[in-house]
Amino acid sequence: PQAPLVLGIETSCDETGIGIVRGTELLANTVSSSMEEHARFGGVIPEIAARAHLEAFVPTLRQALDTAGIQLKDVDAIAVTAGPGLAGALMVGLSAAKGLALAAGKPLYGVNHLVAHVGVGLLESSSPMAALPENTGALLVSGGHTEILRVVSLTSQVQLLGSTIDDAAGEAFDKTARLLGLGYPGGPAIAASAAQGNPRAFRFPRGLTMPKFEGSAHAPGKHRHNWSFSGLKTAVARAVEQFESAGREVPVQDIAASFQEAVVDVLTSKTVRAAQEHDIHTLLLGGGVAANRRLRELLTERCAAAGIELRIPPVSLCTDNGAMVAALGAQLVAAGVKPSGMDIPADSSQP
Ligand code: KG4
Ligand code: ZN
Repeated sequence: PQAPLVLGIETSCDETGIGIVRGTELLANTVSSSMEEHARFGGVIPEIAARAHLEAFVPTLRQALDTAGIQLKDVDAIAVTAGPGLAGALMVGLSAAKGLALAAGKPLYGVNHLVAHVGVGLLESSSPMAALPENTGALLVSGGHTEILRVVSLTSQVQLLGSTIDDAAGEAFDKTARLLGLGYPGGPAIAASAAQGNPRAFRFPRGLTMPKFEGSAHAPGKHRHNWSFSGLKTAVARAVEQFESAGREVPVQDIAASFQEAVVDVLTSKTVRAAQEHDIHTLLLGGGVAANRRLRELLTERCAAAGIELRIPPVSLCTDNGAMVAALGAQLVAAGVKPSGMDIPADSSQP
């Protein structure tokens, strides 16, 4: 049988993404972002995001269909992010997906955003109906999430091994950039400043790495695989204050470099250990922070040392997009999974 042609819709945060795949073949990946509208607030404003989805949806859909050279009636199924994410933003995508599915008489699949981030790993494959290798894991790092997942099967079994207990990694970049006067989004701004600084100038804390949080491999602590970035944020603020109160110039580049090193160090060390302890042989990196050069470099180094195969998709597939939703949808169709009901809700806190 031919691989399923699936339309994927993503609206969980500030990106309106429409993707079209045939099995693992990427036909279109169109994204419209409202990031600039949030810039002056220094973070995503939910209602602005929802309104932007409403405006961008149809033009983005039209562009994706044109790029793929298909019409809505050609698709085998429609997949849409049902959660987790911003409730209002999710509702725009879900409502639109239901309308399309109903009008065109297509099955509808509500999917989990995080699982979709992992599913994107299939799009690089040359086989139209490839499956993920056994024991695949994913490190997802963006403005909204910081998680390590173990994927037994994309269609049924995904296990959360660890996550942040406070700020997401990208959020930490954004907040620290604001503190250092570097602008929004903070990730690229910090990375650029860090490139001119000394990553060893300051020793900033690596959260939740003390034995009382991590325990041992035999007696794992509650936060063995979890992250915390609030202490790091405070440490940066204190360093800035000390220079300011002494009337000295703040060494922004050194602070940015040392901050970035602390985030990347603790992200990679905990990820590699979680992978080793949970028998993960293939690791996928996803989320906007995956664009960070130092993160790619250190994770590549540490995965190689641990014998873990690391896959880093292009940044356009790492950040939020519709192609990942379509890719997961194609897996669900091929696996014969029953479509969602038309009453499927937006579940902002879906695990
Ligand atoms: O996945 P994404 O585009 O949107 C969501 O948050 O869902 O991720 C955006 C996040 C922002 O926090 C941004 O500061 C961060 O990714 N980011 C980076 C870099 N580029 C983007 N963080 C560190 N280094 C970068 N080069
Ligand atoms: Zn995401």
